[in-house]
Amino acid sequence: MKELMKSVVVVLLVAFAVTSVYASQGNPKKGKFLYKKNCKTCHMKGGTSVELTPLSKTMNQWDRFFDENHHQINPEPFKGLTESDLVDIRQFLRDHAMDSPTPQTCG
Ligand code: HEC
Repeated sequence: MKELMKSVVVVLLVAFAVTSVYASQGNPKKGKFLYKKNCKTCHMKGGTSVELTPLSKTMNQWDRFFDENHHQINPEPFKGLTESDLVDIRQFLRDHAMDSPTPQTCG
């Protein structure tokens, strides 16, 4: 019985660790690359839209954009991207948001 409890605890801990990593972590390096390739063309000085870099918004504003807005104005740029690409881009933007510990432009 004791052994059974032990394995139940181990299974729960592993499941928790795995889901929390997949739920919240993108790859910010990949995100930066994808942002430059897919977003910056329009969102830079002299581009067709507003200049946009990670520190243009707060972490909450980026979350809201990715959760709710999804670039409604023009869905095209999001269509070619997979769910995991978007998680990576979001991670990069969030990591360097206005109110993050390391605000940054995308260079
Ligand atoms: C084909 C051009 C184009 C591309 C590519 C593009 N966007 Fe946009 N985006 C726009 C336009 C146009 C708007 C509307 C804002 C405006 O009036 O210029 C906009 C608005 C936004 C806004 C809201 C800006 C604000 O402060 O109101 C965000 C955030 C944004 N885009 C993020 C992205 C991300 C992230 C990508 C890459 C996945 C991306 N965009 C790719 C054209 C583009």
